[in-house]
Formats: sequence, structure tokens, C-alpha cells
Amino acid sequence: MSRKEELIEKIERLKKERNAVILAHYYTRAEIQDLADYIGDSLALAQIASKLEQPVMVMCGVNFMGETAKILCPDKTVLLPDMEAGCSLADSCPADKFEEFIKAHPDHTVISYVNTSAEVKALSDILVTSGNARKIVDSLPEYEKIIFGPDRNLGNYINSVSGRNMVLWDGACHVHEQFSAEKLAELKKEYPTAKVLAHPECKKPLLLMADVVGSTAALLKAATEAPDGSEFIVVTESGILHEMRKLCPGKTFIPAPPLDSTCGCNDCAYMKLNTLEKLASCLENMAPEVKVDSEVAEKARKPIERMLKLS
Ligand code: 13P
Ligand code: SF4
Repeated sequence: MSRKEELIEKIERLKKERNAVILAHYYTRAEIQDLADYIGDSLALAQIASKLEQPVMVMCGVNFMGETAKILCPDKTVLLPDMEAGCSLADSCPADKFEEFIKAHPDHTVISYVNTSAEVKALSDILVTSGNARKIVDSLPEYEKIIFGPDRNLGNYINSVSGRNMVLWDGACHVHEQFSAEKLAELKKEYPTAKVLAHPECKKPLLLMADVVGSTAALLKAATEAPDGSEFIVVTESGILHEMRKLCPGKTFIPAPPLDSTCGCNDCAYMKLNTLEKLASCLENMAPEVKVDSEVAEKARKPIERMLKLS
């Protein structure tokens, strides 16, 4: 038996013993996605976590996803295979600075992207993911003044499609910011019939070149609904290509490259910290466990629940 097979067997055994469920984001490694009970985008993972009955869940994703699950399910044990799995976008929005920003804009409703710390969530009126941001912003009356944080690219995109003028926090995801319009233009020349699928965390010039802009789940849906033989250039973290290729064997998926790289893909190093070894180890040791201060969690739960209700 190979090391990989041994680890998979161990994970399956421990999962049963612990009565645990494994959730994984589309950006994690292929082998993690393959053995997860559920894979999804940030919205789907939060929705699934909120409905689970099992007492233990392992969130194969990044820290803020584990925190969201823990806030929604305070009585459950939420494990994260590697506590170092952070998020550059969440890091670009420290809670103390965000609080000052909110104070500088009184009378504004605070909408935060789910890619934030629990403390930033606790300062927010409502949360969104890339999968529901447009719908939630549209559900608010037109006269409502809005602060949107922390992703300036997603915020700009929502402003442009909704006609709003939300005040934006100046944060970004280092993975999506690295995509280059020049490199995408070169790829489009090479594959002239390929449709461009882009995540709204990318910069505006890339989004303007895209045929479909959406969350990872929305891009996946667009790919599955296209006719056989279609080609796609995928402008988001390369982990999503695994599920796209699995669900659409008759279609071609080309990862868009980042600006400064000889390799063709753009990976989130945080997501890739989730490995089979760490997944097995966290189920064995029931650690590391995600903890959120109960007062912060209490405040953060309301805007998350408001989001789930509106999704
Ligand atoms: P979605 O899962 O909402 O598509 O967001 C992408 C992302 O960057 C998650 O970290
Ligand atoms: Fe954060 Fe970007 Fe990684 Fe998503 S891809 S977890 S937003 S750093």
C-alpha cells in the first residue's frame, strides 16, 4: 500500500471513530477534495456547516472558514488541519483600523466579505461571499449608504454592476491580484474560442476581459452548463480546475498564469497547507481546534445569519 493509500485509509477510519465530517474548499489540493464529504465555495461551506448534525467537522480551507463554521456551530468541534492557513485578504483588514474606518463613515451600513477575521465580522451589519454579494447589496434600499470591505476588487465590481457607490476598504487577495491582463490577452490569442471565467477578486481589467465573473461555484456552474468541447481560460486559484475537469471531461480548462511566474498556475499557498498528513493528524489528535472568543462570536453570528437568510 502506498503512503497516500495508507493515509486515506487512516483518515476514513478516524473520521468514523470521531463521527466527523470533512469539508473542503475548491482551492485545496486534489487529494483533499477527493476525500472530502463536501466541497464548495465559501458560501456553500458556511451553509453546509450550519446544517451538519455530526459533532466534529474538519474545515480544509483557511482560518476564516473555520471561524465562520465555529461561530455558526459553537457547540461543535471545528478542526483546521493547519492553523497557519491564513488569508492575505483577511490580513489586509485589521479590526482596529476597520473600526476607525467605520467611525469615519457614520450612518453607513457595514457589509463585509466573509474573508475576514471574526473580529471584523463582529463589527459588520451583514456579511457576503462572492456568491451572494450582488444579491445582498441589491436587497438593500437604494438610499442606504454602504461601507464594503475588505476586497476593493469585489467592491468595485459590485459597484459597477449594481450602480451603487459603496465606500470601499482598500484590501485585496494576493493570489487574485497577481493575474495579469497582458498574460490573459496572450492566452486569449492562443485560444481564441475559449471563454474566460474570472473570480471577482481579480482586478478590473481582467474582469472586463471575462465572459463570466463569479464565485468559484458560479464559475463551475458556467463550465458544466456549456456544451461539450468548450474551452475555458480560468482566472482564479488553480485548485478549482480539479473539479472542473472531473465534472466536464469533454471540455478544456486552461489556467491563467500570474504575472511573475514561469509556472502556468496561480496557487494560494495557504489553501495548499491542507495536506493528507495534516488531515490525518488533526483527526487523530483532535487538534488544532478553531476557537473564537464567545463575545466576539455572539456579535459575529448575527451578520453571518443575516447573510444566510438572504442567500
Ligand atoms: P469563493 O469561495 O467565495 O469563491 O471565494 C474565493 C476565495 O478566495 C476563498 O478564499
Ligand atoms: Fe485568501 Fe486569496 Fe487564499 Fe482566498 S485565495 S484564502 S482570498 S489569500
